Amino acid sequence: MEKLLVKHALASDGPKDDVLIQGWVRTRRDSKTFSFLEVNDGSCLKNLQIIVDADLEDYAKVQDASTGAAIEVSGNLVESKGKGQTWEVQAKTLSVVGLADSTYPLQKKGHTVEFLREIAHLRTRSNLFGAVFRTRNRLAMAIHTFFQSRDFMYVHTPIVTASDCEGAGELFHVSSLDPENPPRGEDGKIDYKADFFERPTYLTVSGQLEAEIFATAYKNVYTFGPTFRAENSNTARHASEFWMIEPEMAFCDIHGDMDLAEGMVQYLIKDILENCQEDLELFNKFVEKGLIQRLEKVAEQPFKRVTYTEAVEILEHSGKSFEYPIQYGVNLQSEHERYLTEDHFKCPVSVYHYPKEIKPFYMRANDDGKTVAAMDVLVPGIGEIVGGSQREERLDVLQANMAAHGLSEKDYWWYLDLRRFGTVEHAGFGLGFERMLMYVTGVHNIRDVIPFPRTPGNAEF
Ligand code: 4AD
Ligand code: MG
Repeated sequence: MEKLLVKHALASDGPKDDVLIQGWVRTRRDSKTFSFLEVNDGSCLKNLQIIVDADLEDYAKVQDASTGAAIEVSGNLVESKGKGQTWEVQAKTLSVVGLADSTYPLQKKGHTVEFLREIAHLRTRSNLFGAVFRTRNRLAMAIHTFFQSRDFMYVHTPIVTASDCEGAGELFHVSSLDPENPPRGEDGKIDYKADFFERPTYLTVSGQLEAEIFATAYKNVYTFGPTFRAENSNTARHASEFWMIEPEMAFCDIHGDMDLAEGMVQYLIKDILENCQEDLELFNKFVEKGLIQRLEKVAEQPFKRVTYTEAVEILEHSGKSFEYPIQYGVNLQSEHERYLTEDHFKCPVSVYHYPKEIKPFYMRANDDGKTVAAMDVLVPGIGEIVGGSQREERLDVLQANMAAHGLSEKDYWWYLDLRRFGTVEHAGFGLGFERMLMYVTGVHNIRDVIPFPRTPGNAEF
């Protein structure tokens, strides 16, 4: 007997005797002489139809094969006479492995994503989330293929770290001290010398600083891992735990950095268009009308590039009254990003050379004395999906930047060493994995593209 995934059964090039199908019942229809079961095993969006004849020995068990139940069916894969499917299974045996009673929450009617979020342990069995998580799986693989085929080395950067890469102070502490009664020094402050790592440590906000170590030995590298931000923003685009792809390249400047970021976004879109057709059609129909057409366009068209200064001028001349007034020196807010991508350029935009005051310590100072070689890739509907920069490779300039940001050289001795020994122009960026997934699926809440969202006030499941 051949165990067969539903997707392989549906794509079969001929009938097959004695196959074994294992999955969960989506629906059942009974008639006098037989029952139809629609079975899904997660391998694809479509269900496989099973026909159980009433004269079968196991027919009585059909009554237990209700929506949500786990079943095993053996039988023959035969051409379907019905519409909408090519192959179906004529059952020979049926066993109900796990019952699901009428309280199973995913009965046939459609549910809102908000409701499904509350049952994240079962939403995986809905059509929408099946499509999302299969696309997520494919996107992760496409990322590795993209880099591996370009000779980038995959590096695992640490999850627990002592440095705050972005300097935004959005850190989750990692400690094994008794929170009720931590040891204190004479000054009354917590004595981290007594903590597990003998210093304050945190969950990483970015693997960049360690990726720089690897780039200055192996040239082109990338990390792809979870990152954590204790940022109290309850938006549809922010999660406290999210995955980030961070390439880092030696012998590369800000322009090479933008080339890679834009090329990567386009490559990933093409890969998903090619390999997730069925799931994309679902998004196209039920989540965002016109999604596929939009993706096809973005995959081919070059992105716009403007400096921050030009972007601010465009916004100032937009005639729009923004909630956060725009002027040189402020951070671009989501409404500004949306105006640029959705109203003005109507396509993805890379904005580069930002004022140094609003950017972290590691970014390379430009010759104008005002800006740093930073870049963000903004896309319609979401805003920023990529943030990156050329790094400051000059020891003295980096030391001055660190002093200006109030950072101690003692804490970053190894980072400074990279500028002492064989320093080189280098650059990199971070692509938010969930934001990219939102972009290719059209799903507009980050909580619905990550298996188990962590957001302020929520760590269920
Ligand atoms: O712009 P960010 O903060 O850049 C960095 O962390 C750099 N160290 C990356 C680098 O140069 N290696 O974050 C990068 C990207 C953002 O553009 C966004 O897509 C995503 O990470 N991101 C988030 N995604 C979900 N939830 C959050 N709270 C996010 N914060 C950032
Ligand atoms: Mg950013």
